[in-house]
Amino acid sequence: MSDAKKLFIKTYGCQMNVYDSERMAEALGTSGYTTTDVVEDADMILLNTCHIREKAAEKIYSELGRFKGLKAENPDLKIGVAGCVAQAEGAEIMRRQPMVNLVVGPQTYHRLPEMMLEVEAGKKALDTDFPEEDKFDHLAKRPKAKRGPTAFLTVQEGCDKFCAFCVVPYTRGAEVSRPVDRILGEARDLVERGVREITLLGQNVNAYHGAGEGGDYTLARLIWVLNDIDGLERIRFTTSHPNDMDDTLIEAHGACEKLMPYLHLPVQSGSDKVLKGMNRKHTAKEYLRIIERIRKARPDILLSGDFIVGFPGETEDDFQDTMRLIEEVRYGQAYSFKYSTRPGTPAAERAQVDEAAKTERLYRLQALLARQQSEIQNEMIGRDVKVLFEKPGRLDGQMVGKSEYLHAVHVSDPNIATGDIKWVRITGSERNSLGGEILEKTAPVS
Ligand code: SAH
Ligand code: SF4
Ligand code: F3S
Repeated sequence: MSDAKKLFIKTYGCQMNVYDSERMAEALGTSGYTTTDVVEDADMILLNTCHIREKAAEKIYSELGRFKGLKAENPDLKIGVAGCVAQAEGAEIMRRQPMVNLVVGPQTYHRLPEMMLEVEAGKKALDTDFPEEDKFDHLAKRPKAKRGPTAFLTVQEGCDKFCAFCVVPYTRGAEVSRPVDRILGEARDLVERGVREITLLGQNVNAYHGAGEGGDYTLARLIWVLNDIDGLERIRFTTSHPNDMDDTLIEAHGACEKLMPYLHLPVQSGSDKVLKGMNRKHTAKEYLRIIERIRKARPDILLSGDFIVGFPGETEDDFQDTMRLIEEVRYGQAYSFKYSTRPGTPAAERAQVDEAAKTERLYRLQALLARQQSEIQNEMIGRDVKVLFEKPGRLDGQMVGKSEYLHAVHVSDPNIATGDIKWVRITGSERNSLGGEILEKTAPVS
């Protein structure tokens, strides 16, 4: 056994939390921690949490309860809570669960090494500030070790949109964009470490406005400079707001070679009355018009969305408007949720839709979305796609990767290695993936 202290991190919520968990592990690396996948081996357990819906937030307390046994066996075990529940609930977490040693918000985790010194001295550490300084300027340098072929890169954080249902503007703070040179530096570093695909992250990633050489950079301008990095083969971004889909970004989808034909563009509802109640600041028609323009720029783009059913005031007619919008768009992929009241948000105070109606609407909505997903997957059969292989599949000799359209694709071919990009002819569709065969060609067959 080595002397290094072991850190176990569990990540909930969005991709930004996945990215933050990597950075927190790196920050704690400077305090002598190496990561482990075995919770029983841990000297420190860190939960990187999500506050978006009630269930997600409450889960944290049951999860913490489960660590009681581990703490009894190892009284030196340290337990920390990071992320959006930490930001929203702060010291309340330590009151409800006294064995928690550390609470750190999403904007202060660069201070983890100092906080750990306090914790190791037997004190409790709490930091949920929104500091002046940029955490990225203070975080540990990213390691040089080789890594997998895909990576997330946070370029923008926070949200100024204040949708009436959403906690993100409160847990992540105001919109901030990282400067272009830092992003380019990090992207080049990732590519040197073996990364071939980068997904740019932001709570409102297309609201990106970063400082760079020659002035202000929009997301499209940032993508164009990333497009010039040799060895970087694919660029994606998430999550976007319809109102920030500007002309240059739509154009980039048609013109930028490395930008993949996939767009996650949440609409939440197809009813103008509900959209107004949500403070989304766009109508269903305006959303459909944006989709139309994106499809004109890139006809084969695969669209993905988020939907909320049972928002306060939603009637069956409003719900039917959402179903019609879905029929019109045809989503290849989607996420849908029952509205969940969140403390401190405007919609939480309003008259609520009956729970049984929410459940039933979600059921119908998900059936429609599942049908669209499977139809679009079936249409891929016989087509040739380019797959970036990421890891071995479930079966012996199988490899799994993602197509340009973010479909998971598996092939059985012993010659494929992680990080390879190959043409694959799609031969079958399963529930959440496609199967195919490797093609020996370098250019697309039309
Ligand atoms: N910034 C992104 C999404 C952030 S949260 C955007 O603007 O779309 C991810 C998704 O969670 C949202 O798109 C929404 O569909 C869902 N969500 C957020 N708050 C919710 C709530 N209170 N109840 C149910 N779903 C919610
Ligand atoms: Fe939440 Fe709306 Fe901001 Fe998205 S745009 S993070 S849904 S407030
Ligand atoms: Fe959840 Fe925070 Fe992401 S609330 S969805 S982890 S920004």
